[in-house]
Amino acid sequence: MTLQERLWLQGEEAWRCLLGWIPGGPGALLRRLLYGPFFQAGGSGLRTGVGVVIQGFRHISLGRHVGLNRHSSLYAARGRIRLGNRVFLGDFSSINANDAEISIGDNVAIGPMVLIQGANHVFDRLDLPIADQGHAPSRVIIEDNVWIAARATILPGVRIHSGAVVAAGAVVTRDVPADCVVAGVPARVLRPRGLPAPRLPERP
Ligand SMILES: CC(C)(COP(=O)(O)OP(=O)(O)OC[C@H]1O[C@@H](n2cnc3c(N)ncnc32)[C@H](O)[C@@H]1OP(=O)(O)O)[C@@H](O)C(=O)NCCC(=O)NCCS
Repeated sequence: MTLQERLWLQGEEAWRCLLGWIPGGPGALLRRLLYGPFFQAGGSGLRTGVGVVIQGFRHISLGRHVGLNRHSSLYAARGRIRLGNRVFLGDFSSINANDAEISIGDNVAIGPMVLIQGANHVFDRLDLPIADQGHAPSRVIIEDNVWIAARATILPGVRIHSGAVVAAGAVVTRDVPADCVVAGVPARVLRPRGLPAPRLPERP
């Protein structure tokens, strides 16, 4: 990371410290106005709660009416994050791009304490601390109309197809098919979404 980039990040942090604690509607409005111009694109109708952490504004693009609840975070200092229209991030949830790219479609609801990770640590070498081996960047794609429930973890390289539901506490290690519910560690398909067809009464 260049000196200029480091200075920029420190400036962002100061800006966040100044505005991030102001509660209620006035705080949300101020942040919408004063964070908005720093994003790579979009941000109209953005709503952020207190304590939201955003790192790497210039690498983040937002659709309309994105909601970032209290203490949620977007880390994109060295990666890219794209959030579509009407994406909601629950309290204490975190999207960590870390050299990677994370793309989330429209109408995606993400519950509290969810983790979406864009990269793994490289840990192949035994002669170096893991912390010095860098990251293996990857992509995470979450398509439209997905619900990710509380405390789920989405691992690098995963694609969650449209209409899927990820149950509370699931750890998603593989792609999730469209319109189904996945649960567990590792996450497996629980059932397809949608009501079963009504049973017709038997003829006498
Ligand atoms: C995903 C969810 C909606 C599934 O509901 P459902 O389809 O009605 O599932 P059911 O309650 O009928 O359970 C079906 C089976 O899945 C299991 N199951 C349900 N949720 C599970 C979960 N989160 N993890 C693991 N297994 C789960 C049940 O134990 C049951 O197993 P069984 O058939 O062996 O008894 C729900 O369980 C869930 O995780 N809700 C999240 C709530 C939340 O986080 N709210 C925050 C708001 S953003």
